[in-house]
Amino acid sequence: MAAPGDDAPVPEHPAVPAPTAAGPLDDWLRDRRQRREEAGLRRRLRTLPGACVDLASNDYLGLSRDPRVVAAAREALDAHGTGSRASRLVTGTLGIHEVLERELCELTGQPAALAFSSGYAANTGVLTALGDADTLIVSDAHAHASLVDGARLSRSPVRIARHSDVAHVGRLLAKRSEERAAVVVESVYSVWGDHAPLVELAAVCRTENALLLVDEAHGIGVAGRGRGLVHEVGLAGAPHVAVTMTLSKALGAQGGAVLGSEALREHLVNTARPFIFDTALAPTSAAAATEAAQIIRTTPELTDRLHERARFVAETLDIAQARAAVQSVPVATPEAAVRAAEQLRARGIAVGCFRPPSVPDGISRLRITAPGNMELQELSDALTRIREVLAGLPGPELPAR
Ligand SMILES: Cc1ncc(COP(=O)(O)O)c(C=O)c1O
Repeated sequence: MAAPGDDAPVPEHPAVPAPTAAGPLDDWLRDRRQRREEAGLRRRLRTLPGACVDLASNDYLGLSRDPRVVAAAREALDAHGTGSRASRLVTGTLGIHEVLERELCELTGQPAALAFSSGYAANTGVLTALGDADTLIVSDAHAHASLVDGARLSRSPVRIARHSDVAHVGRLLAKRSEERAAVVVESVYSVWGDHAPLVELAAVCRTENALLLVDEAHGIGVAGRGRGLVHEVGLAGAPHVAVTMTLSKALGAQGGAVLGSEALREHLVNTARPFIFDTALAPTSAAAATEAAQIIRTTPELTDRLHERARFVAETLDIAQARAAVQSVPVATPEAAVRAAEQLRARGIAVGCFRPPSVPDGISRLRITAPGNMELQELSDALTRIREVLAGLPGPELPAR
């Protein structure tokens, strides 16, 4: 039934004022863009042409298109719909989240897991939940932006340790005045592809009564025949070691997780704001990641093939092989890196670009990943074209590591 007055004429929206001369904000934005342009650091969003050979993705094992993973996502879509509809603590917890968490425990050998809607949220979630004014965070100099942001948001005192320098970490922990401490590292670093000295770090953390928090974003599906570097070095389940991971790289899905003790999980459920105030991971992502984790656990040969391809890339391009999915070719300047990537795109090959501020040493690089399921002939053809483009590029002066 119409409410009284429904027939009355509806007033027009007020006219939108015509744009006037640019104000101070526009001037500032233009100035910032110009500076980025001049430094060769302007980034643009673009879609990948369908015909491109994709050597830029994080889908290290090709699982995002694996028929079993796609079927699992489709089944979850039919069963649960497109979204989780609520946060986990309201009505968003679905059986599929619990199945995912159990499977991630199986894969990594950890006692408990909690899924987040991204790896970024997992890192900011665990650090803000653990940090406070009486908890020192010692963060490796090469730690990912999500760990840096988590440390900043935690309101903890933060010290930066020299990259993979265990003695430096030990000194920072030993002279602290805070009661608690957490040391934050990645297992496999994304730019250099080097492995953190986890055994030594864990020993220092045990002596100094600190937690070692390891981001396995680039370790799961890659190190330890897929089960991660923490598992490989025998630290899975150690009470003073916790792990974070993303579901969006080797698992080919979307989301993240924190793994560790049951007590840590309980604490996160109650205090991690990116968990509490966030809609639960979409059912399709949870189902896809569960299937992918199971495939990785039961098919270690998949990871072996990734390393074979990585070796082929390194040998063909004459670069030192990183013990990681990502291989990278140093280039003299950010502009040269962007130009090379553009030339390759024009030849039907997508490669990534590492540029400041994403590179810890300021050296720009072409970033190349060859998924474990890529046909060798296709990879070989692409590498031939990459060599042609690289031949015309200046190389950088590389500092000693
Ligand atoms: C080391 C590391 N940690 C965390 C993340 C964030 O993961 P996600 O993309 O799932 O948010 C990334 C993604 O690039 C990463 O490289």
